Amino acid sequence: MIESTFFATLFLLFSLLPVNAQITVYGVTGQEPIGQTATNTAAAANYTGSAAYNPTVLIAPDIPTGDQYPSLQFELQLPTTGIDGISITQQGSFLGFSVEMSVANQVLGKNSTYLQVPFLNLMANVVQRGGAVNVRVGGNTQDLAVLVDSLPDGKIIAKDTSASTNPTDTPPLQFTNDLIVMMRRISDMTNVRWYLGIPFNDTNWRLAIAEQGQQILGDYLLGLQASNEPDLYADHGHRNTSYGPSDYLSEMQSLVSAMSSDSNIQNQDVLIAPNIATGDWTPENVWDTGFVDVLDTSLAYLAVEHYPTDNCFAQFGIGTPRDAQTIFPTFLNHTSGQSFVQPYLNSTAYAQTKGKKFLMMETNTASCGGFAGLSDSFGAALWTLDTAMQMAYSNFSGALLHVGGQNVYYNPFTPPPTNQSTFHQWTIGPVFYSTLAMAETIGPSNQSQVLDLGANNNNIYTPAYAVYENGTPVRVALFNYITDPSGGSDYTASIAFNGGQIASQVKVKYLLAPSVSEKHNITWAGQTFGAQFASDGRLTGTEDIQTVSCSSDSCSITVPAPGFALVFLTDDALSESGATGATTTFPTTAYTKSINTVTVDASVLATSNGNRGNGMMGSTSKGSVNSGKRARVGYGHGVDVAIIALACVVGALMM
Ligand SMILES: *[C@@H]1O[C@H](CO)[C@@H](O)[C@H](O)[C@H]1NC(C)=O
Ligand SMILES: *[C@@H]1O[C@H](CO)[C@@H](O)[C@H](O)[C@H]1NC(C)=O
Ligand SMILES: *[C@@H]1O[C@H](CO)[C@@H](O)[C@H](O)[C@H]1NC(C)=O
Ligand SMILES: *[C@@H]1O[C@H](CO)[C@@H](O)[C@H](O)[C@H]1NC(C)=O
Ligand SMILES: *[C@@H]1O[C@H](CO)[C@@H](O)[C@H](O)[C@H]1NC(C)=O
Ligand SMILES: *[C@@H]1O[C@H](CO)[C@@H](O)[C@H](O)[C@H]1NC(C)=O
Ligand SMILES: *[C@@H]1O[C@H](CO)[C@@H](O)[C@H](O)[C@H]1NC(C)=O
Ligand SMILES: *[C@@H]1O[C@H](CO)[C@@H](O)[C@H](O)[C@H]1NC(C)=O
Ligand SMILES: *[C@@H]1O[C@H](CO)[C@@H](O)[C@H](O)[C@H]1NC(C)=O
Ligand SMILES: *[C@@H]1O[C@H](CO)[C@@H](O)[C@H](O)[C@H]1NC(C)=O
Repeated sequence: MIESTFFATLFLLFSLLPVNAQITVYGVTGQEPIGQTATNTAAAANYTGSAAYNPTVLIAPDIPTGDQYPSLQFELQLPTTGIDGISITQQGSFLGFSVEMSVANQVLGKNSTYLQVPFLNLMANVVQRGGAVNVRVGGNTQDLAVLVDSLPDGKIIAKDTSASTNPTDTPPLQFTNDLIVMMRRISDMTNVRWYLGIPFNDTNWRLAIAEQGQQILGDYLLGLQASNEPDLYADHGHRNTSYGPSDYLSEMQSLVSAMSSDSNIQNQDVLIAPNIATGDWTPENVWDTGFVDVLDTSLAYLAVEHYPTDNCFAQFGIGTPRDAQTIFPTFLNHTSGQSFVQPYLNSTAYAQTKGKKFLMMETNTASCGGFAGLSDSFGAALWTLDTAMQMAYSNFSGALLHVGGQNVYYNPFTPPPTNQSTFHQWTIGPVFYSTLAMAETIGPSNQSQVLDLGANNNNIYTPAYAVYENGTPVRVALFNYITDPSGGSDYTASIAFNGGQIASQVKVKYLLAPSVSEKHNITWAGQTFGAQFASDGRLTGTEDIQTVSCSSDSCSITVPAPGFALVFLTDDALSESGATGATTTFPTTAYTKSINTVTVDASVLATSNGNRGNGMMGSTSKGSVNSGKRARVGYGHGVDVAIIALACVVGALMM
């Protein structure tokens, strides 16, 4: 993205973020940059930079008192027969990412010969643990996208600002098919699978993305969204005010008919719908039109999009003002994730009766960019992990964390601003750690089933889940939402198998930070991505897996306040989640030319070397902090540059 359009783009992105129902966002030009609002601490009061680097630190909620204070010693009986309410089978790729289409050329790479190595590393980290990672390239910008043959300066994405007509001043997004080729290159290196979206701003269907997407991505294309938050179209002026679920169904039928007469679309059974924001329409409003039966053979997935709250008032002066410090506690207990899934429980059951999978195509802590100090806190990481586990338990089949630009607080990862890319690296947000922990908790077997254990008498601060494979408990996930630096609120759960065999010892990995308000000092099994601008996408530090000896009838696991513990009940449960195992080596090439591009050594791409995480992945090559990591990875298209061989070692579980 060129600098002169940088801030214009920031404003644009805001206008595209989902907002609550009943909110209409008209031209936002002239709004204050997000970084100048909603600060809560003295240190951050005068901060004027991008939201992604906002220094606001909230105050951790008080330690609960009275009846709400949890018992610090409790037993967890894992049922081994007749397991009531256990979920459908889940995949290790459950928690993936949703990348706003307009920032794909900052996050994924510049083009198909210039991939962002930090992005590859981050994805490889998830793939090693869960077997695959699912990424959507879409969002509001997909609805206005137009595939063009070429763009000036070899760009793959550009805004046609001359043609913005609608009330949100959203210029059409132009892209070339090199965007899709770039996605394919990424998949060739690590097992990223994609969702794209068919533009839905009008019914003169632009199907090129479906044609090219299928042709280029093949099996790596999981599905195509048909519409993005259609229940907000009327509010946002994209349809007339009477637009309702049956109008949407008619448009879907028109789309299906257009697709079936397009011989360049090989696979018709690919659509993802209705992707409602659950703003003006409930899912039932859509189902009750006969939607699923009418479109049956065209629907690959049913899906929704949802954020638990919004920060639109701070951004646009509309909606309800919300203070991050005040609402922080509402993210920091088990009720939060349960409330999040509640509107969809009927729909996940309904989807099963129709033989469809149900997805959460876009979520994060809050729409309109999230909240400073909240969305980028360790508390948000715990919330994301608990909510993802709650979705898995509630029979969703996947969820995608939204990634915006520099102007949002909630990013799992943020590339440096364009003009700082030569001396800064990426900033990894707390919620990225949730995706690693989630991938390991579910694992890559495709047999995992999730059970909410109602732990500790359903105390809201100490939830726990068990993961079963083929009827046997293999992993247990334990949360402690309380912040108590004294150590006085650490708890010990005694895990016992109801009628089953106890192992003599179990392995434990912790997700830790000193407080729920912590932004950077976060570790997963002792490893970290460090502070702002500090990461090339690899974990640093030595992996720390604890061994806990068990008594004859239980294993006692301590969970710090705050913290998350993942207990591996068997060695197989640990190794299948990517801790050990054989590796596969894929050759590729990288080339270096300009001074800003470092030489890519074999270890730059996150490597699974049979000893995942033990230092090898952690090391940052000398000088890399100052040289940037935007190494170009190419495929030898006869380019006129020095080509060096790069052994890109990717996880054994890669397919
Ligand atoms: C913020 O700026 C004002 C005016 O320049 C100054 O008086 C104040 O001390 C600053 N606050 C902080 C926390 O730096
Ligand atoms: C890809 O992007 C890089 C960096 O901007 C540029 O040097 C290169 O020419 C581009 N490649 C193509 C094929 O446009
Ligand atoms: C939909 O978007 C396309 C491409 O940006 C544009 O040409 C077309 O006019 C838009 N349709 C409406 C109804 O705005
Ligand atoms: C509103 O849109 C519907 C469906 O697209 C159309 O049938 C109807 O005529 C429109 N109404 C008005 C007042 O434009
Ligand atoms: C569940 O959804 C189905 C399909 O829309 C609907 O018929 C039914 O009434 C819903 N049940 C509840 C309890 O909302
Ligand atoms: C727990 O979370 C729920 C849902 O977000 C919220 O309504 C409730 O106030 C929270 N409880 C406490 C004690 O903070
Ligand atoms: C998930 O689906 C399973 C299998 O149909 C069912 O037994 C269970 O009750 C469902 N869970 C929820 C929370 O709806
Ligand atoms: C980068 O660009 C921004 C916005 O134009 C500007 O404020 C900032 O000073 C620039 N930073 C550097 C290091 O050039
Ligand atoms: C799990 O499912 C994915 C996607 O369908 C597939 O690629 C992978 O091979 C499966 N893994 C196992 C262990 O069966
Ligand atoms: C980082 O957090 C850990 C606890 O998770 C703590 O022991 C350590 O002192 C912290 N380090 C810094 C530099 O704050």
